[in-house]
Amino acid sequence: MLPLTARSASALKGRVRVPGDKSISHRALMLGCLAVGETRVEGMLEGEDVLATAAAMRAFGARVERTGEGAWTIHGVGVGGLLEPEDVLDMGNSGTSTRLIMGLVASHPITAVFTGDASLRRRPMQRVIDPLGQMGASFVSRSGGRLPLTITGRAPATPITYTLPVASAQVKSAILLAGLNTPGITTVIEKEPTRDHSERMLKGFGADLWTETTPEGTAIHVRGEAELKPGRIVVPGDPSSAAFPVVAAAILPGSDVLVENVGINPTRAGLFTVLKEMGADLAYENEREVGGEPVADIRVRGSALKGIEVPPEIAPSMIDEYPILAVAAAFAEGTTIMCGIGELRVKESDRIAMMAAGLAACGVRVTEEPEGLIVEGTGGAPVPGGATVAAKLDHRIAMSFAVLGQHAKAPVTVDDASPINTSFPGFVALMTGLGAELAVVEEQK
Ligand code: S3P
Repeated sequence: MLPLTARSASALKGRVRVPGDKSISHRALMLGCLAVGETRVEGMLEGEDVLATAAAMRAFGARVERTGEGAWTIHGVGVGGLLEPEDVLDMGNSGTSTRLIMGLVASHPITAVFTGDASLRRRPMQRVIDPLGQMGASFVSRSGGRLPLTITGRAPATPITYTLPVASAQVKSAILLAGLNTPGITTVIEKEPTRDHSERMLKGFGADLWTETTPEGTAIHVRGEAELKPGRIVVPGDPSSAAFPVVAAAILPGSDVLVENVGINPTRAGLFTVLKEMGADLAYENEREVGGEPVADIRVRGSALKGIEVPPEIAPSMIDEYPILAVAAAFAEGTTIMCGIGELRVKESDRIAMMAAGLAACGVRVTEEPEGLIVEGTGGAPVPGGATVAAKLDHRIAMSFAVLGQHAKAPVTVDDASPINTSFPGFVALMTGLGAELAVVEEQK
């Protein structure tokens, strides 16, 4: 356990860069391993989740090397070339690694065994077992499709057309990745758009992938058996990590922060849209494209926020940002209503329950609903604080309460900040560099 205490700060000021995008980093490693030849990645996130993907890809026979800070070289084995891992794959806290790699294995004639930490072992895998099973893979899992889990792939697998029952980029990507080594056309139909990094990067690697608008939703087709060409990938800063300094600056009067080089792919940038609607002084500067992804520097100044009703349609584009949005809402004038977010209950923790409990413990008026969260804001005044909040192995819960404590009458302690390293190594240093009051208490082991 690594407790982290946050105290009331004055204005935050400065310019920072957040680590590379987690979703894009995972995909760069996986596609690099499926290409024959050398792929170079710059700006890779070196958080624990991505390192779990790198370790797994080595276990499948690829050469994956770190050559400098954020600089990685991958020598792939080719689509169809994955070897059977000799040991159990420990995916740590990472749902993305697990679900996407299950997709890769599904169309290879190999067996792989996955496990993970207590959080990952609670998370539902049936959502990928169902479509990958239709493609011919077989599974042995714990009850409810939970890890530890064994998958045996089938080659050749059967191409399917699958309509996503939940808006999930992980399920979509698992099926598309399985489709790469499957003869014929594999199709995923999504009713609501989810992050499209897999589609963008697959096209960049030369896969035959195309989308089509249908009455049911967007159909994404990929043709197997694909041959992927290696290349160079530049990973932009993670909007889901930028969210923490952005909200911290927005809630602290007098703040002026520039977060440089942030991915603003519309399938990811919902939080920034919602903050603007709440009255945040937030602007994109220097908009450009990096490695096939839209990027900007985000300028944010402290300002009065007002509560809003967050439209449920926007949820997939900010699905990981609801915890930090709930923190912003705690300082808004009036009520913020977040609904249609039942998926939050199956993330690294039950984020609806965790936010409701932590906010209430810090004196914020909050109502938990089966698929929603309602927060009454202070109108800009500090919240009471003075509580220790459980992180339950959830990086985004830990960082959200570290931000809440920046504007609280009494300190807010997160019981265990160690999960922050899964997605945002250097979070505490980056925030304190801007003027945040954060201290890690190292003595407890
Ligand atoms: C991710 C998709 C989302 C998100 C997760 C990363 C991805 O999960 O919450 O942090 O990289 O595809 P779901 O697909 O379960 O919504």
